[in-house]
Amino acid sequence: MSKMTFQNQQILDEKRSQARFGGGAQRILQQHQKGKLTARERIEVLLDPDSFQETGMFVEHRCDNFGMRDKKFAGDGVVTGHGTINGRLIFVYSQDFTVFGGSLGEYHAKKICNLIDAALEVGAPVIGINDSGGARIQEGVDSLGGYGELFHRNTLASGVIPQITLVMGPCAGGAVYSPALTDFIFMVKGSSYMFVTGPDVIKTVTGEEVTQEKLGGARMHNTQSGVADLAFKNDVELLLETRRFINFLPLSNRDVLPLRPTSDPADRVDMSLNTLVPTNPNKSYDMKELIQRIVDEGDFFELQPDYAKNIIIGFGYMEGSPVGFVANQPLHLAGCLDINASRKAARFVRFCDAFSIPLVTLVDVPGFLPGIEQETSGIIKHGAKLLYAYAEATVPKITVITRKAYGGAYIVMNSKHLRGDNNYAWINSEIAVMGAEGAAEVIFRQECKDPDRKKEIIANYKETITSPFVAASRGYLDDIIKPQNTRWRICKSLKYLRTKSVNKPWKKHDNLPL
Ligand code: HXC
Repeated sequence: MSKMTFQNQQILDEKRSQARFGGGAQRILQQHQKGKLTARERIEVLLDPDSFQETGMFVEHRCDNFGMRDKKFAGDGVVTGHGTINGRLIFVYSQDFTVFGGSLGEYHAKKICNLIDAALEVGAPVIGINDSGGARIQEGVDSLGGYGELFHRNTLASGVIPQITLVMGPCAGGAVYSPALTDFIFMVKGSSYMFVTGPDVIKTVTGEEVTQEKLGGARMHNTQSGVADLAFKNDVELLLETRRFINFLPLSNRDVLPLRPTSDPADRVDMSLNTLVPTNPNKSYDMKELIQRIVDEGDFFELQPDYAKNIIIGFGYMEGSPVGFVANQPLHLAGCLDINASRKAARFVRFCDAFSIPLVTLVDVPGFLPGIEQETSGIIKHGAKLLYAYAEATVPKITVITRKAYGGAYIVMNSKHLRGDNNYAWINSEIAVMGAEGAAEVIFRQECKDPDRKKEIIANYKETITSPFVAASRGYLDDIIKPQNTRWRICKSLKYLRTKSVNKPWKKHDNLPL
């Protein structure tokens, strides 16, 4: 090696190690003192060892305002590149809070946009790690423009590649709209927050006093607003669970579904399911138990577990192939559909449909939640979201009614009428406009004043109206099944539906009820 080449290589090595040092030792220490990993440490935990290939390591800003000319950091506050998770290609960007507080300037934004462009061309997910003070104040409109470009990329990529945002620090102002445009948001309890306007602005404008944590912390977004999908106790837990999560997703809408070898027999019968539903119709049971009993190895990855608990959403594998589950949860609000449940499930159904992940819907629903608050808040439009999502979905769609399916909610929950491919009901289930008692009171008000006659009417109603054999006789159910056989019936359906393909009328795009 010539002396010149050797010197140049030394310069390169020095520049690299300087870039890896971000904002310097003191700021790295401060990051650690807050219980947070650095941008690069996060990438290390997230990706397979030694798989990360960095791009744009030497990119710098070109801002001269406020002495910025002398403050340049290689990489401009965001680490970008690609690597693998369990051997599968992933693009990742990680904002570096030690450099200008991770704030987004023109070139910082360009790096992220280039990354999304590359991910779109190649067809691989983007995982964005957000830890930023927002728009870089010194760069003014260039920084706003950067956000605009990023939002546009997020929108173009939506439905083409999975986009996951890990909010692991501040995320405030308009900056929140990039995560909001992506498919899933995971947050860290205690060290991350998201809000459009912070506590100080709120105090000035409305006089309300609130802490950052209460206004936009992980707990709030995972229980009240529904903005986030999961909350974790620290950085490492979040990153390791993200690795597990990505296993359920295809790399793009052009990719085949990831397969996972399983030793769990597809024809496994589970006798305990025959007693899952209590004989007393007013008693509840845990629908999650059913999901865990039918998926491969009991491995269910639930999303939004603490928001709109009356509906369950998440991923599992069935006979080695991923499936999206949507299920009413009788333990909460008796499994009624309300505004939040409809929005939660609708978005999930649309994600699964966009990425060709089959849907399994487990139904025990007494109807839409009655109430002035629900009506005045627009349950009509919000409920229509779930209806719309199921109706437009063309992936394999399997439904199992476990106990009751009443009223409009029966139709919404992937009924035959919305082109459910295989609709099953457990032997003791009931399907009708409403439950037997309510129906008897409406159509036989006078006669029901006599308790014996009322009993008779209810028994008759159950036999002639709500029995699953009535729905099956019309072809609205494909079969009535024993609970014990649920897993293998679903597996068989999913197997023959693998090559399902549906032609829909041409349209520029749809107009779902937003
Ligand atoms: C430039 C920033 C910055 C920003 C932080 N820094 N935010 N530099 N632009 N937006 C710098 C700080 O000057 C500081 O630099 C370093 O990052 C660390 O910040 P600290 O304040 O010391 O950290 P901390 O106490 O942890 O507080 C973090 C913070 C706070 C809460 C994020 O920095 C903050 O409030 N920043 C401003 C947030 C904001 O208003 N952003 C604009 C939002 S509006 P030194 O050199 O001193 O270490 C927006 C619009 C987007 O983003 C619109 C899109 C359409």
